[in-house]
Amino acid sequence: MITPDTVSKIFETARIDEVVGEFVKLKRRGVNLVGLCPFHDEKTPSFSVSPARGIYKCFGCGKGGNAVNFLMEHEHFTYPEALRYLAKKYNIEIEEKELSEEDKKEQSEKETLFLLSSFAQKYFHETLIQSEEGKAIGLTYFKERGFSKEIIIKFGLGYCPAKWDHFTRHALNNGYKKEHLTKTSLSKSKDHQLYDTFRGRIVFPVHNLSGRVLGFGARILTSDPKKPKYINSAESEIYKKSKILYGIYFAKSSIISSDNCYITEGYTDVISLHQAGIENVVASSGTSLTVDQIRLIRRYTNNITLLFDGDPAGVKAAFRGVDLVLEQGLNVKIVLFAEGEDPDSFCRNNRPADIKKFVDENSYDFISFKTNLLLEETGNDPVKKAGLIKEIASTIALIPDNIARTLYIQKCSKLMNIEEKWLFAEINKIRRQKFHKERLKKSAEEAELPRSALPDEQKKDVELQPADSVEFKEKELIRVMLAYGHKDIMLDAVNEDNRPVVVPFNVLRVLVEDIESEGLVLETPVCRKIFEELKSVYYNQKELNEQLFFNHDDDKIRKLAVELLTTPYSLSENWENKKRISVSTEEDNLKKTVFDVLYNFKLLKLDKMIQENLEKQNNEEDPVKKMEYQKIFKNLKEKRNHFDRELGRVVIK
Ligand code: CTP
Ligand code: MN
Repeated sequence: MITPDTVSKIFETARIDEVVGEFVKLKRRGVNLVGLCPFHDEKTPSFSVSPARGIYKCFGCGKGGNAVNFLMEHEHFTYPEALRYLAKKYNIEIEEKELSEEDKKEQSEKETLFLLSSFAQKYFHETLIQSEEGKAIGLTYFKERGFSKEIIIKFGLGYCPAKWDHFTRHALNNGYKKEHLTKTSLSKSKDHQLYDTFRGRIVFPVHNLSGRVLGFGARILTSDPKKPKYINSAESEIYKKSKILYGIYFAKSSIISSDNCYITEGYTDVISLHQAGIENVVASSGTSLTVDQIRLIRRYTNNITLLFDGDPAGVKAAFRGVDLVLEQGLNVKIVLFAEGEDPDSFCRNNRPADIKKFVDENSYDFISFKTNLLLEETGNDPVKKAGLIKEIASTIALIPDNIARTLYIQKCSKLMNIEEKWLFAEINKIRRQKFHKERLKKSAEEAELPRSALPDEQKKDVELQPADSVEFKEKELIRVMLAYGHKDIMLDAVNEDNRPVVVPFNVLRVLVEDIESEGLVLETPVCRKIFEELKSVYYNQKELNEQLFFNHDDDKIRKLAVELLTTPYSLSENWENKKRISVSTEEDNLKKTVFDVLYNFKLLKLDKMIQENLEKQNNEEDPVKKMEYQKIFKNLKEKRNHFDRELGRVVIK
């Protein structure tokens, strides 16, 4: 277990903008940073990071928290994993107490698969670099292909011995289980015997965004037409091919700084380009891009450039999948290499400076490129040309942005030598049909899926709490205490000479004392917990600070504090600055705000008491006791009317 001292040191050191910035492209906006939310699909940024307050918050999907929350949510880290990650990032030495048996058991299945993958990567890498067989076969092969030692180390490349089960036995001897070896497809089973899946192959580890090994691709060294060139890890709990791009971990910072991402087909293309100094490059690993992969890129840039073989197969491959990319609102360029040449071979045959120059000079905007290419095929045939217009229109129609679409219409109609209005008409037709189809699909889905069928998590997102619910009112109360508890409001009082005076009262004090003196209890568990903490802040005269709650041990408290203290407007003001920067009307009229939430809360409680009282009255036989209840009832009603008047409502009854 990590000691509390270390935990606080980590919390103090970690900078939310730096932590989130590793995964999300952030732009400065005022005192905050904004970006596209990594937790839901969006095209305009509603994800905000406040360095001053140490938190992030998405105003689209509501996710929010501190640096540790972010890592847990985004990387699916456990709490200790997130702490370790931060400790490593900030060079903080971790003090630990020993793990108990129970802690060990708790290590999840997923974690075991991660550990095994990393164990395997180390084994393959060491085998490549150190063993006789690895050096003679694997390393020689890499050297022949021109891979430097540095690049082999950077990408963690490896070699799996051409023996039956060398790796498998090594893993079993180190305590890994058969079940996990087959789940990660590092081993296969034949007649109840396990053997090495990647035996006799060079191995390319695949890393996730944070650099953990998820799976492998393994290339054969001979050209045996009966055997597959590559064997890849099968899908597992940690390896989902459609969600990952090869090389993304090594590329992400360069993608951000160059605001562009090159997409190649193969492992070797990525590595060779890196070696040539072009680092903003990933590989789709031979399949067309998926929506998840495109979204992965879109966190860092809106621009992608496809690098493909110049042969007809390469061009076709480039066409495939581009529709999806355009639909996601990204700008697509394309670079075609000479026939039979891929980025890897091109890198081998050219100097780094020439590679950069070639790529820059041969990047074509995808839509114009496609138009030109198809134009060559159609020649002057009018029938074919009509088909071409339809084809290009269908591509342009995918672009979500109006302005970008209009620009393409202008450009392509010039290229095709037709009037813009034809292309406009065709595109509008397609978009209308698409819109109609989507609406039909949506209403069909809605008809099929009643709200009650939604999973609980989603239901919460869909259903807002009604403003008259207990939970809502209690949350409002807590919000005002957290946000303004440190402030004063002016209240009427009497001085020693019994003269009326107006004096400042601390908001936290007013609310805590009032609720305590009436013996009222908050019902929503997390609100009650926060109220208890606020009480202790008040009674122990501690300083009320939002960090107390943003970094709280209790996950629920942390989340609610972020939820309550961040609004699209409030995030732009930090705790200290609040006094100076444009104050909201709520704050201008703090006295009203404070009493509104207090009376609203108390009204709710009174209503409950009145309800209970009525039930008791009805069930009571004894006339004397019944009278008692009626008296209490009258009192409660009077109080209620008083609060109602205070809240400025008209009481009719
Ligand atoms: N691929 C695969 N399985 C195969 C062939 C290819 O998974 N049987 C994937 C690999 O991710 C490979 C990519 O498709 O990297 C591109 O294939 P290819 O161009 O054939 O391989 P290269 O990576 O270019 O390998 P090399 O240059 O060594 O031939
Ligand atoms: Mn190749």
